[in-house]
Amino acid sequence: MKENVSNDQIIKDHYKIQAGKHKGSATSTMEDLTTRQKEVNLIQNFFRTPAIKNKCKEVLEIGCGNGYTLSLLTSEFPDYNFLGLDFSEDLLKIANDRQLSGARFEQGDVRKLRFEDNSFDVVFTERCIINLLSWEEQQQGLNEMHRVLKKGGYILFIESFSDGYNNLNIARNQMGLESIPMPHHNLYFEKEAFETFVSKKFSVLQSGDLGAGTEFPVHQNFLSSHYFVARVIHPLLTKGDPTIRNTEFVKFFSFLPPSGCYSPIEAYILQKK
Ligand SMILES: C[S@@+](CC[C@H](N)C(=O)[O-])C[C@H]1O[C@@H](n2cnc3c(N)ncnc32)[C@H](O)[C@@H]1O
Repeated sequence: MKENVSNDQIIKDHYKIQAGKHKGSATSTMEDLTTRQKEVNLIQNFFRTPAIKNKCKEVLEIGCGNGYTLSLLTSEFPDYNFLGLDFSEDLLKIANDRQLSGARFEQGDVRKLRFEDNSFDVVFTERCIINLLSWEEQQQGLNEMHRVLKKGGYILFIESFSDGYNNLNIARNQMGLESIPMPHHNLYFEKEAFETFVSKKFSVLQSGDLGAGTEFPVHQNFLSSHYFVARVIHPLLTKGDPTIRNTEFVKFFSFLPPSGCYSPIEAYILQKK
């Protein structure tokens, strides 16, 4: 558990800088554009599955940031009621300025949601719960997400885990590259503890459970090949300069299907029991 100096302040300060630097851009909170694109594709494809499309109306995004993802979802799914919640007033201001017709935004904290039990059909996150800097708080967040979800409702959980992160650093070290440090504002999930915890409250869905004939199923470590290319092979060629990113080289290999477990970011689909 990281020291609780004022973890909330660490998070708010970090995202104030992100808001000032990236404004409404897709690079806000994620400067790697291939990762952003693959995350967004996964989220869009999730909403296109037969289990979700036209069946789930009330949708909550926790940690919506500057509203970039909801700007895409509202234009494709105009009939849904999207609610974006975030801790950072600075990012929310940008989200609100988008004036999206299908989405509302509000300030809140996943550890203590103001919503009634059983309010939402879908709750999703994109690298948010890793901002809770202890496992206890992460469990609190998961409990709240569970509480506000309707029975049978879904969580799409795109968060970071230590197994892919460790594998990536082992691969880097073997090639003479330094480990990538875990960002100071993140705590990645330990997979075993996470799976034990969620399996008491949710069914962990497998590939194909949301209906046939769609871009889903996805590989759980859907960014694995991209991370191997962008964080192992690419830095070897660019002599490790971390400012060189989003190159044509990396874009070229983004067609590769995911293989292995080399990305910290992974996707889970959970259904409330
Ligand atoms: C890595 S960013 C991702 C933002 C957005 N999903 C995106 O993809 O750009 C994590 C977001 O979670 C928000 N966040 C952090 N702690 C939170 C909390 N306790 N409750 C709600 N949101 C929180 C942050 O303010 C930030 O906007």
